[in-house]
Amino acid sequence: DEVKVFCPATIANVSCGFDVLGVALDSVGDEMVVRKIPKKGVFITKIEGQNLPLEAEKNVAGVAGFALLEKADYKGGFEIEINKKIKPGSGIGSSAASSTGAVWAMNHLLGNPFSKTDLVTFAMEGERLASDVAHADNVAPALFGNFTLVRSYTPLDIVPIKAPEELFATVIHPQIEIKTSDSRRILKTTLTMQTAIKQWGNLGGLIAGLLQNDYELIGRSLEDHIVEPIRSILIPGFDRVKKASLDAGALGAGISGSGPSIFALSRGRQNAEKVARAMKKVYETIGVEHDVHVSKIN
Ligand code: HSE
Repeated sequence: DEVKVFCPATIANVSCGFDVLGVALDSVGDEMVVRKIPKKGVFITKIEGQNLPLEAEKNVAGVAGFALLEKADYKGGFEIEINKKIKPGSGIGSSAASSTGAVWAMNHLLGNPFSKTDLVTFAMEGERLASDVAHADNVAPALFGNFTLVRSYTPLDIVPIKAPEELFATVIHPQIEIKTSDSRRILKTTLTMQTAIKQWGNLGGLIAGLLQNDYELIGRSLEDHIVEPIRSILIPGFDRVKKASLDAGALGAGISGSGPSIFALSRGRQNAEKVARAMKKVYETIGVEHDVHVSKIN
């Protein structure tokens, strides 16, 4: 009555899809062990890798777990051990990974009474704790894999999208922490019709590019006229890193989730590795501590 899960890191927004688009990575993720116990409740017994609260009410995995437990026909509870490999505040869905892993494992241990969309709803409660807003663009891809589109929040409607086989992501993380709640607060709450038209043109283009295996179209569509101009100011060397990735052959690049990580998409692993070296070189030149990794989209 115990299960071990890998919960992937995710890139949310993917430039033009603020709060609606996300993609799962295979190179980084949290590991969790979840176990059924007779005592009712959710108990986090161990966290390795990061200094995070063990109190279940203050931990995203605990909060997501309580949301599931409330709806489950089950008298007992769960114990959770977390090996936290994703740094909180890095922009690759740290809170989403733990929230999703917890509810996926609990559902599995209960014999899968809930649908994937139900699980997204529970995991979103973890996101609410982490960022004040229950956004689903990290938890949905963490749960479904590959790309997902949140077509609607009310009612929740998740559309899984399969990326072309040769699509790879490079993610570089400058070692600063940006809280999602802070980086949401600086955003404007209104936009002009002109900006909206550009943005939904790109989002449609990106989805079409993914479905038609059109790498050029994917690249052309990786533009963000709403969020990137504001948030990029918080990220050291953003413009230089982005330019270096494009010069090295990336299809496109942008901010991963709420930052500070920067992502680039490339065709083929070799290109993605080349992009990684180019991004790294910028940070070495300007003296920014960082780590970088390449993932296959799957
Ligand atoms: N869509 C969210 C945001 C993702 O950009 O604030 C946070 O990881």
